[in-house]
Amino acid sequence: MRPEQGKVVVVGSLNMDIVVRSSRFPASGETMFGQEVHFIPGGKGGNQAVACARLGHKAVMLGAVGDDGFGHSLLESLKANGVRTGHMKKTNAAATGIASITLTPADNTILVVPGANETLTAEDINAWSSVISEASILLVQLEIPMEAVAAAVDIADRHGIPVILNPAPARNIAADILRKVRYITPNQSELLELTGIALSDEGLERAIDALLERGPEFVVATLGSKGAAWKQRGGQLQRIDAHRLEVIDTTGAGDAFNAGLACALSRGELIGNGVRFAVAVSALAVTKFGAQDGMPMKEEVERFMRSFTHEGATR
Ligand code: RIB
Repeated sequence: MRPEQGKVVVVGSLNMDIVVRSSRFPASGETMFGQEVHFIPGGKGGNQAVACARLGHKAVMLGAVGDDGFGHSLLESLKANGVRTGHMKKTNAAATGIASITLTPADNTILVVPGANETLTAEDINAWSSVISEASILLVQLEIPMEAVAAAVDIADRHGIPVILNPAPARNIAADILRKVRYITPNQSELLELTGIALSDEGLERAIDALLERGPEFVVATLGSKGAAWKQRGGQLQRIDAHRLEVIDTTGAGDAFNAGLACALSRGELIGNGVRFAVAVSALAVTKFGAQDGMPMKEEVERFMRSFTHEGATR
């Protein structure tokens, strides 16, 4: 099958996010009362697929859920958002993944129990080879077994399909995988963990260069409130500021960024425009509560981008 323009295939995790709002994090050994609890569809893979669908793209999700209540809700939520779920694995071997998230006004902590996500094998991925071969871009994260990541990247490589690897959460990545990835999108702590280089001002570029040497053609680093920086092998370091909007929930901010980048690149945008679009998608995502629930629609992003292009006021 030939790649289809604008089609993003996401290989990754699905979790039910159990989000507890709290005034602060409990201290070690302390019991305290939280304010409210929410069960919200999440998982880095699911979040990225939903974001792509909301941005008006064909988004295909490849991953695993348990044959249980959370698994069914996650699939329903993906479908309701327009994500194609026809090839998902449903397993009795493990429960659907969950993420226990504590959300305070200042920050969040996330503890993931991968469950069914851990059952994804290279064999499962190889069975989806024809689905991956129709993608115009493949988007992968690291919340599934490395053998599954390696198999997906390998299929994309054989079909000449560009891969965005979002190295979250940070783990050791085999040299062979890095050589087959065109874009890698670490945040600051992932960049530090992958390269061992502290991110002072000049450390950032050294860390990016160290990662470029390992294979990817582009490193796109997300820098939280400082925006994003990117570099192509042999090119110059480029930077873009973050937008200053009211932050409600940063869960899924990185997922929104990766989805925005994948969508822009899948329709043939240049990297600079892709990063600009991704920064806008991510800025809007944090103004709403919940990872998947907070992903913006295409029209919102376009309106937002028009507003600062014309007025220059919201940046
Ligand atoms: O990136 C945010 C996601 O990380 C959450 O939705 C949670 O499920 C964890 O995977």
